[in-house]
Amino acid sequence: MAFLTVSLVLLSFFISVSTQSQNVFETPKPLWTTFHHPIRRVAVVGAGPAGLQATAKLIEHNFTVRLFERAPHPGGNWLYSEETPVREPYPDKPVGQTTEIPAKLPVTRYYSEGDDGLTLDERWTEHWQPRPLWDGLHINTPKVSTELPDVKYDPDTPWVVSNRAVQRHLRSYASHHCLNSNDHCPATASAPPATAYSTRVEKVEKDMEAHTWVLTLRRLERLHESHRILAEWWTETFDAVVLATGPYTAPHVPDIDGIVDWSKAKEGEQYSVYHSQVYRHPQRYANKTVLIVGASVSASEIARELGSFAHRIIASVRPANNSMPSMRQLDLSRFPNITEFVPEIAFLEPLSGHRNGIRSGKIHLINGSVLQGIDEMILATGFRGSALFPPNSTTKRPKNIHWTGHYIPDPTLAYTFGRPWTLGRYQSYGLAKVWQGSARLPTSEQMKLEEEYWREWLGEAVFRRYITWLNNASLEHGGRFVEPPPIENLEVLKYYMLVYLFNLNYNTRNLDSIGNFDISMLSGQLGDKDAWEALVDEDDDW
Ligand SMILES: Cc1cc2nc3c(=O)[nH]c(=O)nc-3n(C[C@H](O)[C@H](O)[C@H](O)COP(=O)(O)OP(=O)(O)OC[C@H]3O[C@@H](n4cnc5c(N)ncnc54)[C@H](O)[C@@H]3O)c2cc1C
Ligand SMILES: NC(=O)c1ccc[n+]([C@@H]2O[C@H](COP(=O)([O-])OP(=O)(O)OC[C@H]3O[C@@H](n4cnc5c(N)ncnc54)[C@H](OP(=O)(O)O)[C@@H]3O)[C@@H](O)[C@H]2O)c1
Ligand SMILES: *[C@@H]1O[C@H](CO)[C@@H](O)[C@H](O)[C@H]1NC(C)=O
Ligand SMILES: *[C@@H]1O[C@H](CO)[C@@H](O)[C@H](O)[C@H]1NC(C)=O
Ligand SMILES: *[C@@H]1O[C@H](CO)[C@@H](O)[C@H](O)[C@H]1NC(C)=O
Ligand SMILES: *[C@@H]1O[C@H](CO)[C@@H](O)[C@H](O)[C@H]1NC(C)=O
Ligand SMILES: *[C@@H]1O[C@H](CO)[C@@H](O)[C@H](O)[C@H]1NC(C)=O
Ligand SMILES: *[C@@H]1O[C@H](CO)[C@@H](O)[C@H](O)[C@H]1NC(C)=O
Ligand SMILES: *[C@@H]1O[C@H](CO)[C@@H](O)[C@H](O)[C@H]1NC(C)=O
Repeated sequence: MAFLTVSLVLLSFFISVSTQSQNVFETPKPLWTTFHHPIRRVAVVGAGPAGLQATAKLIEHNFTVRLFERAPHPGGNWLYSEETPVREPYPDKPVGQTTEIPAKLPVTRYYSEGDDGLTLDERWTEHWQPRPLWDGLHINTPKVSTELPDVKYDPDTPWVVSNRAVQRHLRSYASHHCLNSNDHCPATASAPPATAYSTRVEKVEKDMEAHTWVLTLRRLERLHESHRILAEWWTETFDAVVLATGPYTAPHVPDIDGIVDWSKAKEGEQYSVYHSQVYRHPQRYANKTVLIVGASVSASEIARELGSFAHRIIASVRPANNSMPSMRQLDLSRFPNITEFVPEIAFLEPLSGHRNGIRSGKIHLINGSVLQGIDEMILATGFRGSALFPPNSTTKRPKNIHWTGHYIPDPTLAYTFGRPWTLGRYQSYGLAKVWQGSARLPTSEQMKLEEEYWREWLGEAVFRRYITWLNNASLEHGGRFVEPPPIENLEVLKYYMLVYLFNLNYNTRNLDSIGNFDISMLSGQLGDKDAWEALVDEDDDW
């Protein structure tokens, strides 16, 4: 089905091209996207695996690049830290708009403990949102599909590595390209360094007259000796922008009566409820009764870790969404066997006091039962995204994105999507080539037509599409040729899917015959989840 639609689109593309060339003298319509002026200065937002690759590729193509990252070091999601945000600080405000931007920029301010009712720690962690990684977290993807080019893992590294190994891997990649937090590699002596850490992009705006992008930036620095925080705001101007802010910008807190409205909760009535983002170690849950909300990977993996520490583990799970029943089955099978499953929470009764934590609280379930005696509650309810552009957007990525990541209404803006580990190298090269002029984007009208189809291309097809498009462009305009993902990675992926994932549910599989399957034949066993998506896709909404 996907193939048919793709070939139909291509067919109609060729037809429109040939009719256009017949009428070329009457209607000299452009055949591809052109830019107002040459693109030289590019901003990349986010130093995770996606943003690091985009930055390295753009530098290799001689762009003047600035990489902005709100965290103090590279690694994105994989920057482990013992720091935790106390809880979602301003639940009623859009992500990234938690602090008023001063009217006149540039400006510098000093903050002391307690200013505006915030501790220095709160101000610091609100700025960079320490990552949702816990100490014992290991990857749930095989290392071959969680690896960047240029800095391979040691061949003896196991298939499933620790979060610290991924962090070191990303820092190696950053150092290799001179993008680490202690590297300083200006393009010229007078240029600022390519990287700006602890620097959050507050706003991305288009200057319609100059045809440039203006970024509003805020950098924080902890001044340990004087026990203060220095904040600096300023703006910088660019010809193009890559938004590589990842799918998980902030924790998702479900709209359950009793926990959402922290801003209005009276002292003493608040529940000490923590998002899984705050979870680091199992020890504090020793001998406690823990309620975990959610049924997905964070919920099941945290429950597994707590299995040998907690007194009781209760999981509040809502009915599976039918679109992926076997994924739900897989997630549920990962919970430890002591888990007691209960339905969704309806509401929480206000607490009578703050002294004894939430133990005295009454937690009402949708089936009418009431849970009591819960010591701790962990919201493993996932994350939410928000794009920096268009303004006020509450989704991770706006709808009108071309399959190359370019924003169709203005392709000087691009979003990274899909799995950066496997797709990012092609995506980054495509961005560099288009902005350099050594690859072409179709016209906006044609891109709009293709936009409807790109979701169907996710999976193996998106790799093939990138490879043909990039190599065809290099043939015409010069540049390196790209190769498909190495066949040995696909072979490992097949084994991984069956052994690590399927064997939990399907223990009768004959491992000897794995080599006879091709990747897409394994799809059926993950519901509608294509095994290729393990190489490509992160999240259905991403
Ligand atoms: C708990 C957890 C476990 C995971 N486990 C796996 C796994 O096992 N295998 C796997 O493949 N994937 C896993 N993932 C998915 C993970 O998202 C990807 O591995 C990968 O990190 C995505 O890369 P990215 O560069 O797109 O985004 P990220 O790694 O999230 O990086 C985005 C960066 O953008 C920065 N940023 C955001 N907004 C701004 C701003 N306004 N200004 C400046 N900087 C900003 C962030 O600080 C962050 O550093 C996991 C995710 C989570 C949450
Ligand atoms: N490497 C690892 O071990 C590891 C660990 C953690 C996370 N991850 C990755 O990180 C990403 C995010 O995973 P995640 O588990 O944190 O988030 P997630 O996949 O978004 O899961 C959120 C869960 O919360 C549930 N939920 C939301 N609101 C709820 C409510 N009101 N009541 C009950 N349940 C509710 C959701 O249910 P519905 O399904 O009904 O919406 C879902 O089960 C995934 O890509 C995952 O693979 C990896
Ligand atoms: C970058 O500039 C150098 C030096 O001018 C040149 O040799 C190289 O080909 C350029 N790279 C690309 C990808 O255009
Ligand atoms: C938990 O309970 C067990 C058995 O009652 C006890 O031996 C252990 O010390 C307790 N652990 C903590 C951290 O309280
Ligand atoms: C189930 O998934 C579909 C598609 O992602 C979504 O539109 C729908 O709202 C989901 N239903 C529930 C109950 O979450
Ligand atoms: C539950 O799991 C533990 C170890 O993980 C095991 O020892 C025990 O036998 C299991 N119990 C049941 C009833 O399966
Ligand atoms: C609600 O669900 C829980 C867990 O399945 C069950 O133990 C309880 O009896 C149910 N309550 C009612 C009123 O059905
Ligand atoms: C975005 O939201 C802010 C505050 O809610 C509002 O003042 C502003 O006009 C909005 N911007 C756009 C472009 O809608
Ligand atoms: C290959 O390049 C030629 C010349 O630029 C172009 O006409 C054609 O559409 C390209 N084909 C693909 C599949 O990108």
